[in-house]
Formats: sequence, structure tokens, C-alpha cells
Amino acid sequence: LQPPQTVPVVVHVVSAEDGRGDVSDERLQKQVDVLNTAYSGGEAAAAARSAGGTGTAAEEAAAEEAADTGFRFELTDVTRTADDEWFTNFEEHRDTIRAKLRQGDAGTLNIYTADLGPGLLGYSTFPQDYEENPDQDGVVVAHDTLPGGDREKFNLGHTTTHEVGHWLGLFHTFQNGCTDPGDYVDDTPYEREAASGCPEGRDTCPEQAGEDPVTNFMNYSDDACMTHFTAGQGKRMVEHWAAFRAGSSQ
Ligand code: ARG
Ligand code: ZN
Ligand code: CA
Repeated sequence: LQPPQTVPVVVHVVSAEDGRGDVSDERLQKQVDVLNTAYSGGEAAAAARSAGGTGTAAEEAAAEEAADTGFRFELTDVTRTADDEWFTNFEEHRDTIRAKLRQGDAGTLNIYTADLGPGLLGYSTFPQDYEENPDQDGVVVAHDTLPGGDREKFNLGHTTTHEVGHWLGLFHTFQNGCTDPGDYVDDTPYEREAASGCPEGRDTCPEQAGEDPVTNFMNYSDDACMTHFTAGQGKRMVEHWAAFRAGSSQ
């Protein structure tokens, strides 16, 4: 199975009329750069490559786990809507907003940014949802989670990395807890529940092999703690791409 060439990305910035949440083009490009690093092997692999294999053992282990998923992303369009009601009550209006703004087909990644309130970082539709609900397809993220945002511990852009993982068919690493089939990926250890912060040596499924995948992008750890997708996750994303999203924009 072939990974796609490059996924076109359209960002829909919904902001307040006074300019709050009007994320700059520069920060949008930084967000896409974060996606490209993450999906090509993460900061871990990038650091190991530039160190030429002279990193610490822990760094090299992280780099080894970090898979190049094959996915790359290109920012192709940005829409900007300044509307106080849409910005502050995005959830209430989300169906209307997405139906109005969404572009492209199953292979176009639509990202919406707005104020999602204090408790929500983002969410996504799954590839299987597209057929029934094409105009709702996409990823929604809190504007302050983009690189350089004000969201403490969650402002390096990995909320988008995580949500795009869902958009490409991944579940959380703690899906189904310590029991089969877990997250439906072979090379991610089981995990009883979501991690937060960046705990070291956490092992919530001691009867199963491996420590918790705390630094995986599909966990709930802090952005600075997240380093990689595994090869198994890459494979699952490529399979979902082929089954539900390919053949449209490529
Ligand atoms: N809670 C959100 C979800 O389940 C996103 C978690 C993102 N985590 C992060 N470190 N940015 O989709
Ligand atoms: Zn999630
Ligand atoms: Ca697993």
C-alpha cells in the first residue's frame, strides 16, 4: 500500500470581531510544519539525524520507535471569518459552520480553529464518517493550541497532530484499556487509561508487555512530551487512507 503524496490542507480561521483568535498565516504555516515533522518521524528522528547517531541511548531509542508514516501536508488555502457568535459558541453552530466552509473531497484535510472553551483542545471525525456526512468531515482545534498560542502545555501544535491521527483512523493508545484489541495497532503497548503530564516509567497494564506509550501522539500527555507515531500506526493510517480517502484529491 502506498501512502498518499501530499495531503492538501485548508484552514478555516473563525475569530472574534476584535481579532481574538485570528491566527496569522505564519502560525498556520508553522502548524503545518509541525505536522510534517511529526508524520515523518517526529522531533526524535529529526534530532537523531542531525546528531548523526551521537544522541543519548534514550534519544536513539525514541528515534527508533518514531516511524515515517509517509504522510506530508501542504497548506493550500485559508479562509477567515470574524464572527463573535461563531467564535465563542463554535460547538453550538459547528454543523452550520462546517457545512458553509468545508472545501474539497475525502482527501482534503479541513481544519477549523475557534475558541472551544477551557475544557476542550480539539476533536475530529473518523475516515468512516465521510461517506455519510461529507460536509462535517475534518478537524476542530482550539486556536490557542497552535504553535505560539497561549494554551499552557498544549501550545506546540500537537493537538492538531493528534486530531489528524484520528482523521486518518487512529484511536487513543488507551482505547480498550489493558484488553484486546486495544487500539488495533500491534506495536503500541496496552494502557489502562490516558496519561497526563509526562510520567516516566508508567506501566498501567503490568500483565501486558511494554511500558505505557506516554510519548505517543495518540496519548493525552503534554505537547512537549509527545514525540512519535509507531510503524504500526503509520500502517493503519495508510490503510484507512486507501480505504476511505484516496482517489479523490490525488
Ligand atoms: N483530548 C483531545 C482528543 O481526545 C486532544 C488531546 C491532545 N493532546 C495534546 N497534548 N495536545 O482528541
Ligand atoms: Zn483524541
Ligand atoms: Ca496496541
